[in-house]
Amino acid sequence: MKGLGSALRVGLTFDDVLLVPKSSSVRSRKDVDTRSLFSRRIPLNVPIVSANMDTVTESAMAIALARLGGIGVVHRFLPVGDQAAEVSKVKRSEGLVIEDPFTLGPDGTVQEAQDAIESRGIGGIVIVTPGRKLLGLVTARDLVFERNGRRRLREVMTPAARLVTARPGVAMAQAEETLRSHKVEKLPLVDAKGRLAGLVTAKDIVRRKQFPFATKDGKGRLRVAAAVGVKGDYLQRAGSLLDAGADALVVDVAHGHSSLVQEAIRRITKDYGDVEVVAGNVATEKGARDLVRAGAAAVKVGVGSGSICVTRVVTGFGVPQLTAIADSFAGTDGSGVPVIGDGGVRNPGDVTKALAAGASTVMIGSLFAGTEESPGPTILREGARYKLTRGMASLGASIDRRMREGTDRRDPQLVEEVVEESVPEGVEGLIPYRGTVEEVLRQLVGGLRSGMSYCGAGTLQELRSRAEFIRITSAGYKESLPHDIQKVA
Ligand code: XMP
Repeated sequence: MKGLGSALRVGLTFDDVLLVPKSSSVRSRKDVDTRSLFSRRIPLNVPIVSANMDTVTESAMAIALARLGGIGVVHRFLPVGDQAAEVSKVKRSEGLVIEDPFTLGPDGTVQEAQDAIESRGIGGIVIVTPGRKLLGLVTARDLVFERNGRRRLREVMTPAARLVTARPGVAMAQAEETLRSHKVEKLPLVDAKGRLAGLVTAKDIVRRKQFPFATKDGKGRLRVAAAVGVKGDYLQRAGSLLDAGADALVVDVAHGHSSLVQEAIRRITKDYGDVEVVAGNVATEKGARDLVRAGAAAVKVGVGSGSICVTRVVTGFGVPQLTAIADSFAGTDGSGVPVIGDGGVRNPGDVTKALAAGASTVMIGSLFAGTEESPGPTILREGARYKLTRGMASLGASIDRRMREGTDRRDPQLVEEVVEESVPEGVEGLIPYRGTVEEVLRQLVGGLRSGMSYCGAGTLQELRSRAEFIRITSAGYKESLPHDIQKVA
């Protein structure tokens, strides 16, 4: 036993401390630079990551966040194929050139085209022969008034002879000019033999201008990460996610300071080569050091810090989040492996504190679970709107997981078994609806930018090196909140 005694360490979290204002030459919060790293090789313009929870990140969240300069981690509580499809939707959502556009044959039906447009979130479908010769194009607009779902696409498509096309390798400025001058939305790229070699869309060009800070790969596609576990089919899952285009894998288990996680990092990099493997969760210097040594491209930090977690009450284990971040940062030993501060962020100021303590990014769960882009419907209760969120170790999540592994039916006996066996470390509940992720992000990043100017920090590195924390008392905490007024807004 270590620790109990006169020198018992104190663990601190966000509400225990404040940052001391520093002399500042930052003229405006607009002038600060919030660039950071998600993992060794994935830079972000905005240091915010959405949590790999089934009530937080699927493709809609990952797309929205990557457009705004952060990144999403698609959760793993889905069959492999479905998780890979979510990754694929993000990768296909935009790009300089869509190299492998979705296609159908001329005998495909209007119904098939409509389904594909809806499920894949695409604006049109290229029609090709089995040898990929371009035959035509069907756009969502072509199908709006089409009543007969069984009609063949050859009858409704715009034939190749009437399409504007370009050669593969066309310069982007030229492609844009062609789209503009012909007033068309899609430019199929066709090689000398008439075969489809890619697609440039006007929507992508507009998006590039609309979201200049988006997190993108070398091909102009949005970046996305995806979670895997350490047991069962995790290696195959990793392979499918990488095939779907995942930019990073996140080996995510509740107790990440374990030989299983280190082995998983090694096996994934052995089998799949040069992959960004993020790992966690840890909460200590030694935990972070061991993951860095095993080859982690970033270390995810937080044990029991999440808003839906009861790990600390159920197991007695955990480290208050700010201390966990500072200690884990120390454990990265200047290796440059970034720390992801995962969980416990309730206010924009918590983001600034986490980054000042050593995190390179902050992972957000429940705050994003209340947004439009999180999976699941909005619930109306007594005139107010809510969304559902749950810990991934909650009873409900465990039941769903067992159902999926088993018969896929909600078998009452199986439910009873899970209830009897499980010791949940998470809870589920309603969270107020918060609008779009863009609105929540604006508050988080706005707070961070102001915080950086209070610190006189032009960059996040400067924030970390200039930051001075001061511990506060409960009276100081009370003073920090609005007080002695009747709040009206
Ligand atoms: P916030 O506070 O942003 O935290 O909602 C999100 C993080 O919480 C973790 N998480 C859990 N932790 N039991 C836990 O102890 C759970 O059931 C659970 N589900 C999620 C996770 O690290 C997430 O990113």
